[in-house]
Parts: sequence; C-alpha cells; structure tokens
Amino acid sequence: MLIKFDFNNMMERTLGEKGFSDAQLNEIAPAAKTAFDRFAAKRGSGMTGWADLPYNQDDIVADIVATAARARKEFDNFVVLGIGGSALGPIAVFTALCHFRYNDLPAEKRGGPKFFVEDNVDPERMLALLDVVDVRRTLFNVVTKSGATSETMSQYLIISDILKKAIGDGWQKHIVATTSESKGNLIKLARKEGFKTFFIPDGVGGRFSELCPVGLFPAAMLGIDIAGLLKGAADIDKACSSSDMFRNSALMAAALQFLAMKGGKNISVMMPYADSLKFMADWYCQLWAESLGKAVDLDGNTVNAGQTPVKSLGVTDQHSQVQLYTEGPFDKVITIIGVEKFRGDVVIADGAEEFPDVNFLCGHTMGELINTERRATEYALTRSRHMNNTITLPEINAETVGQLLMFFQLQTAYCGEMLNVDTFNQPGVEEGKNATYALFERKGYEAKRAELDAAPAKLDKYII
Ligand code: PA5
Repeated sequence: MLIKFDFNNMMERTLGEKGFSDAQLNEIAPAAKTAFDRFAAKRGSGMTGWADLPYNQDDIVADIVATAARARKEFDNFVVLGIGGSALGPIAVFTALCHFRYNDLPAEKRGGPKFFVEDNVDPERMLALLDVVDVRRTLFNVVTKSGATSETMSQYLIISDILKKAIGDGWQKHIVATTSESKGNLIKLARKEGFKTFFIPDGVGGRFSELCPVGLFPAAMLGIDIAGLLKGAADIDKACSSSDMFRNSALMAAALQFLAMKGGKNISVMMPYADSLKFMADWYCQLWAESLGKAVDLDGNTVNAGQTPVKSLGVTDQHSQVQLYTEGPFDKVITIIGVEKFRGDVVIADGAEEFPDVNFLCGHTMGELINTERRATEYALTRSRHMNNTITLPEINAETVGQLLMFFQLQTAYCGEMLNVDTFNQPGVEEGKNATYALFERKGYEAKRAELDAAPAKLDKYII
C-alpha cells in the first residue's frame, strides 16, 4: 500500500523537446547520489532529527495517547495556538483524516472535542473563536518551538488571562505546551505554571515537525491513529533508502525538480485531486518555500535559490487556474496528487434520459468523475507540453498520509542538498520576527529599530 510517483509526463517521450531525456536523467543521477549520501551522513544530527521520528518515539507516543484519551473525555473543544510549522501540519492531517464536517457532527459521532487551529493574530478571528468556545470546557495546545514567536505568545497571553478570570484555580489544566525543552520562554512559563508539556526535539525544525508531538498530540486528540502515521512514514523512508534515484521515488522527485529549476521552472504547483488533501498542499508550500528559498548557498555564494510553491485543488481549480497551466508560460511543474479509492462514493443518479449531454454522467460515481477529470487534466497538460507528475495514494488513511508527509520531507531534504543550500534554516522568517520585536520596542532590538527607522520613508507621491 505504498504511494506511487509517476513522472512519465516530465519526460521527452510525452512532452517532446519540453521534457527530459533519459540521458539527462542519467547525467543527473550522480549528483542525486551525492545528495543522498550527504543527507545520509547528516541523518539524525543537526537539524535532521525529523528523519528519525518514525523510529524513536515509543515512550512519547504512549504519553500522547494516554493524555489525549483523558482529554478527549474531559473537554468539548480543543484549540491549537501556533503558526507556520506549528499549525500547518495539524491542519493538513486533520483535514485528510477526519470527517469533512467534523465540528458539525454531534458529540457522540465525533467522539472527541471540536477542533480549531488559530494560526493568525487577526483580532476578529480571536473574537469569533471566543464567541463559539466556552473556555471552561476547552483545552488549548500552545505550540511554539522557539517559545518566542510573537503571534503564538500573544495568543497564549490572551487565553491564559481569560482562563484565569473564568476558572481561577486549576486554569493551568486547560493548557498543554508543546515547545523546546531547552530554550525559549514557553518552557519557563510551563515550568512555573505546571502545564502538561510535550517537547519538540532540538533537531526538528517547525516545518519538519508534524511527526513529533507538534502534530501527534493534536492528531491523537482527534482520534487519529498516530502509530499508523509513523508506520507510514517509516515505510516510505525504508522504500527510499537507495542512493540510486531510479529506485528511490523521493530522490527521483527531488532530482526532477532540481533539473526543472535549472531549466527555469520557478514554480511548483501542488494540486491534490481530493478535498481532504487540500491543506496538504498548504503544508507542502511552507516546506518547499522556507526550506529551499535561500539567498546564499553553503559556500557563501549568492544564489537566490528556490521555487515558488502554489496550491491548487482538483477539480475546483480546473475552473480557475488550469487555463494558465495548459497555455501559459513554461515556468512550472505541476504535481498532481491522486487517490485510487475514495473512502466513500456517491452514484450520479438517473434523471436526464432525454438529455444525452447530461445523461452520459448517470450511473457513474463522483469518485469516477474526479479521477477521470484528473486523467483529463494530466492529458491536457501533457498535450500542451507542460511538465507534470502524479503521486497516487491507494487510499487516504493514517499510513498513506504518513507516507506523503515523509515523502515530501525527504524530497525537500534531497533537493536542498542538490541546491547546496541550508534546508533547515529560515533567516528570512527570523528577519520578519526581529523587525516585529524592534517595532514593538523589545529590549535587545534597539539596533534593529534604528535600522528600521533609517530606512527610506514612504513618499506620498507613490500613494494614490
Ligand atoms: O519552519 C519553521 O521553523 C517556521 O515556520 C516556524 O514553524 C514558525 O516560524 C513558528 O515558529 P515557532 O514554532 O518557534 O513558534
């Protein structure tokens, strides 16, 4: 039951001169092997601790499962407060594996609390959340590795103040903190207040953290089989253990994107043909963008590397973006995610016998229709010579979702090696965080504030 990677439509056989030749693949194979070896040498050290997560969390999983089992009975609502890597994974996995109308189901059908992820500091959104949850019946999971991110810490401050006022003694039981064990402010606050804590290992960065407690605790709160997620991740990891890219799908996927980037394809479109995988594309966008979008390479050369990820949804965006993808510039690779067998299906009923243009649909299922449209889009893209590839899940379940997460993480790590960039840092994100601290006159950021003040003032003539 492994996911499959089909790159036929990246090749000259289907795309003519717009595709890659076998010779090009053979030429890039040694560089892919070097990337694999370099990553293998780092594995488990530095910021690659995420690669070991499928194998080294037995005790943590037991703690998460036990904590979630208790909390699922105790609370009506479960709210994740986090941003970026602390939010996109939980949203993607929730959407992939829970009922589409999860929060609207009656409590007995849901079997656990309603779920909310607050990954912005829009005041209207916070007010709206507070309109629909009773904090006395709510568990908040504050997730921040650095324990310093302004968005998450401000949410923490707002919520803890509300909890203290609403509950008084014992308010701390409404907070679970997921953070670094060794640094940051959240761990200090957690120790002072006695919050239940889960730890983000030092070698696991935000966007690579879905398979650690950042993602596993929310998943367990939703009744998702977290052992299945980790098993799926381990399965694809083992299936990708060859340094020969012709026998390692994630390495092949990385090498193809690397070649495409070299050929000027600056955009990577992620297009799942399944609503439940819609937010997998959001999660992928962060992973691909933050990991590969780098000004300098590991040798200090200015490279301005990266490929802009774009999210798209089949079939919905056939009616919005596919016109561009089939007829627009040859600057992108479209990755389609397909599902062989949906978890349920709906027959398209009879009722239009006298209208042949509609009647041809009758008796087919929606599953057939979405997959036929996926094939049709692949065909249209290929016919117009636009590079596309397809990842197929046999079905959507915890194991295949775990596979997908690990596949993209490995692809990203290999591609980062091929680009010779630091895949695991995010100086551009830090710059924005530091500028916020400076503008808020945080102590220690005086120099940054002076730098901001010295920047050219905006001119009225350019504001109309
Ligand atoms: O991938 C990353 O490291 C970032 O996107 C972080 O996830 C994001 O900035 C949130 O950081 P933190 O977990 O420290 O609050």
